[in-house]
Amino acid sequence: MCGIFAYLNYNVTRDRRFILEILFNGLRRLEYRGYDSAGISIDSSDPNRQFSDSAPSPLIFRQEGNIESLVKSVYKDVASIELNLEEPFAVHAGIAHTRWATHGEPSPKNSHPQTSGAGNEFLVVHNGVITNYEVLKETLIRHGFNFESDTDTEVIPKLAKYVFDKANEEGEQTVTFSQVVLEVMRHLEGAYALIFKSPHYPNELIACKRGSPLLLGVKELSEDMGRGASFLDLKFISENGHPKEFFLSSDASAVVEHTKKVLVIEDSEVVHLKDGGVSILKFESDKGKHSSALSGPSSVQRALSFLEMEVEQMNKGHYEHYMQKEIHEQPESLTTTMRGRLKHGGSCKAKTVLLGGLKDHIKTIRRSRRIVFIGCGTSYNAALAARPIIEELSGVPVTMEIASDLVDRQGPIYREDTAVFVSQSGETADTLLALEYALENGALCVGITNTVGSAIARKTHCGIHINAGCEIGVASTKAYTSQIVVMVMLALAIGDDAISSRARREAIIDGLFDLPNKVREVLKLDQEMKDLAKLLIAEQSLLVFGRGYNFATALEGALKVKEVSLMHSEGILAGEMKHGPLALVDENLPIIVIATRDACFSKQQSVIQQLHARKGRLIVVCSKGDATSVCPGGSCRVIEVPQVEDCLQPVVNVIPLQLLAYHLTVLRGYNVDQPRNLAKSVTTQ
Ligand code: F6R
Repeated sequence: MCGIFAYLNYNVTRDRRFILEILFNGLRRLEYRGYDSAGISIDSSDPNRQFSDSAPSPLIFRQEGNIESLVKSVYKDVASIELNLEEPFAVHAGIAHTRWATHGEPSPKNSHPQTSGAGNEFLVVHNGVITNYEVLKETLIRHGFNFESDTDTEVIPKLAKYVFDKANEEGEQTVTFSQVVLEVMRHLEGAYALIFKSPHYPNELIACKRGSPLLLGVKELSEDMGRGASFLDLKFISENGHPKEFFLSSDASAVVEHTKKVLVIEDSEVVHLKDGGVSILKFESDKGKHSSALSGPSSVQRALSFLEMEVEQMNKGHYEHYMQKEIHEQPESLTTTMRGRLKHGGSCKAKTVLLGGLKDHIKTIRRSRRIVFIGCGTSYNAALAARPIIEELSGVPVTMEIASDLVDRQGPIYREDTAVFVSQSGETADTLLALEYALENGALCVGITNTVGSAIARKTHCGIHINAGCEIGVASTKAYTSQIVVMVMLALAIGDDAISSRARREAIIDGLFDLPNKVREVLKLDQEMKDLAKLLIAEQSLLVFGRGYNFATALEGALKVKEVSLMHSEGILAGEMKHGPLALVDENLPIIVIATRDACFSKQQSVIQQLHARKGRLIVVCSKGDATSVCPGGSCRVIEVPQVEDCLQPVVNVIPLQLLAYHLTVLRGYNVDQPRNLAKSVTTQ
């Protein structure tokens, strides 16, 4: 639940200020992953000017609070120790970290880089959790190590020092940096992405991972840049001496402004940056046969790939907050999600959906015993919104599973099931664990993610990328609507062989084509939702009632309000109203009822009447022109939204609620992009 970043310049002179700024900018891009403390490590002086075995001890700066607090404190410390910001480095390796605390409260001592102890012989930044850290800690304490932090991470640099010292004591060979790290990895359990820095190996960096994401960006600065296909070959990069810069990062957002040439590091790989080259060793941990990782790991050849994203996606543009930008860019994100996937056909050809990632599996999905949707939070809600149309068009029973609950119960998953894993980040630990469980049980596993190369995208048998563009606001908005659209397209693809539902499918496809326009229209409610937010600003609580397609809208609207505005809010299935929640209704508690036109409309009218009879303070979301039908006598506040096909209505209906959550938060004075206690991707259980 953290962001890690590193920068290494080779044969290109950069001064200390430049290096610091690159590290800070990397952290700013990753801040959405965690924002309670941060830290960096840089060299105290050019290690090449030293004539001893190891370079001088690297400097560490760690600070509680956000990245800007770190930046301020670093410049203050740099001035107080009279460190020259203009000092040039022809080669320099710096590492950085932004934290969302799991083990140990946010504080400088618990921030990363974590260190092996005096002299900072080994420094580590870590994203993930080391599950066997207690055992390792006890062993290291027995070997004389003192621990300073409350983190799980601290065992890693200390273990590295232990391995390094032991290898040197035995004196059989000069141990390389990658050999040290391979040996450390052999002892670690849990999920991690790590970057190591050490004065014993000046100007080198090692990155490795298992479970948590990590990528390497390579920027060549020579005139040969871009010549021929071989340029993409890492071997070529290793063998030339051209000036270049390397960037290691938890995700592409911190790399794309420097280079689009990246290597997505895979589990159990150890990537070594040294002398301008990249070498990759693969640690065959799963085979469990190693006598020692200090000998014989296999070397891997990989090609770089190109990032599709643009740097503009990472900026707020003219918006004040990422959440605001992401809400307003939904017409575009939905268009991108559908691009190339909807076929309108000619005059006589059918309208169809093409999902390239599923083409070899669609028949298996159709024949499944069940389709099981698995996700957490907003991603779960998106699947819930799509459930009725999947059931209708596929005829296959659909069950819903919250990832953690499925794993807790070890609920039944069968070989004949299709398990669909929905995740914006593709990294969520609970969803990943559920995926491993479903794979063990032999189900066909389908991934629906927004992150190409993510763990869920890689570990599932097949899948669909939602292509919503990078989502930075911690509260998911555009990813939610794109997930629904992808799952509606999934329903269309599964049901594609049924003649009886052809007219229905074609109407939905027409609706999909027009959806971005309808979303543009509903976004015009921005001011109206701001006015409503002003009215609700001081409330303690808010209920949202929905049913059918819009039960998910009620859950998602309430989730948005509670997670960013910190107002208690609950989404309730309207059919359950009489079975308990009605007791809460009085003239004070604000209640939003979703009552757009679909098969449940008349039932929602009756819910409104019952709430009205108990003097409920009602806000009704209804289809355009329905104000008087839903709100007799003008007794409630009405929000009119454009009507679309029933299965697409959740996409339109959630937008006023996203806007309400956004405005409530800003008016209440909270940070809408970085809600209290939350981080964007939840990579711990
Ligand atoms: C809420 C939100 C979370 C995520 C959940 C799953 O706005 O974003 O509820 O939906 O943590 O994350 P992903 O989709 O990345 O698996």
